[in-house]
Amino acid sequence: MAKQAIKSFADQMTFDTTEAARKISERYSKTATATLFHGDRLELIKQIPKGSAKLIVTSPPYNIGKEYEDYHSLDEYLEGQRATIAACHEILAEDGSLCWQVGNHIVAKAEILPLDIPIHKICADLGMHLRNRVIWHFEHGLHCKKRFSGRYECIMWFTKAKEYVFNLDPVRVPQKYPGKKNYNGKKVGEYSCNPSGKNPSDLWIIPNVKSNHCEKTIHPCQYPIGLIERLVLALTNSGDLVVDPYAGVGSALCAAVLNGRRGAGADTNAEYSRIARERVTLAIQGKLTTRPMNKAVYDASKSRLSVRPKELSGETLFK
Ligand SMILES: C[S@@+](CC[C@H](N)C(=O)[O-])C[C@H]1O[C@@H](n2cnc3c(N)ncnc32)[C@H](O)[C@@H]1O
Repeated sequence: MAKQAIKSFADQMTFDTTEAARKISERYSKTATATLFHGDRLELIKQIPKGSAKLIVTSPPYNIGKEYEDYHSLDEYLEGQRATIAACHEILAEDGSLCWQVGNHIVAKAEILPLDIPIHKICADLGMHLRNRVIWHFEHGLHCKKRFSGRYECIMWFTKAKEYVFNLDPVRVPQKYPGKKNYNGKKVGEYSCNPSGKNPSDLWIIPNVKSNHCEKTIHPCQYPIGLIERLVLALTNSGDLVVDPYAGVGSALCAAVLNGRRGAGADTNAEYSRIARERVTLAIQGKLTTRPMNKAVYDASKSRLSVRPKELSGETLFK
């Protein structure tokens, strides 16, 4: 299954790269549609003029021993995060947003430390304002044996100032009961819902990118592009700059480019950077396959595999 999904991404890479490639720069350029810097995040951030990024969105390494991480003590790790966030704060526009998507750091292979706790302190020390702690819920991942399996991460959305860009209309989602009408008061008989849809709330149910996901590459923890599209549409305007200091395979840059924004990102891993370039090229050409932002989660009850086999029945597992 994994091979098939990766092949379907590779299949998209049969294109003429010349024109789209001209829109991608290896160092920050204001006129480039996307900047893809292969190297350390602080080196990229130094190239970006102060106050020019409308959205900084990232998923940093969590220091949990992934193949792309060097292990650090918790203090060293948080110092690194403080340095990245402080540098990001300088390039952030006055009405801009910083979204730090984090999960749990595992302490001594035993306890969890939700990284949103120390990240909040770092951002609050810089005077930033927490607007939402968006819970991103997904259904697939490792099954834990000694604690409940983790099935969410959170996106800490901070703004630099009290006035900030927030566009709700492009990210509204369908109401549960669009046919519901007011039954009393001045508007009796009229539909009670906003015809443009409702606020998507701070709980987002979006599948994570596992082997059969149409966006899957070799990266072990890539973002679903739809998750970032929602942030890009709500927190930036057309033409704005979106920066991802830990860009991986470029998912945030793709989300920016697909929605008429500019993107800039860094990654120290050469192979991820190469794949990011291919994906951003496809995004510029309008050829990148993505899972639509508001597509409903697959209803597993439609699968014959969801029916409990007879030989397992008779057990009183589920009450
Ligand atoms: C959680 S992953 C981000 C994945 C990304 N959101 C995506 O969709 O592909 C973190 C990334 O940070 C990169 N990284 C680690 N240290 C870095 C550094 N000092 N500067 C830039 N990137 C770094 C890793 O190679 C890894 O790809």
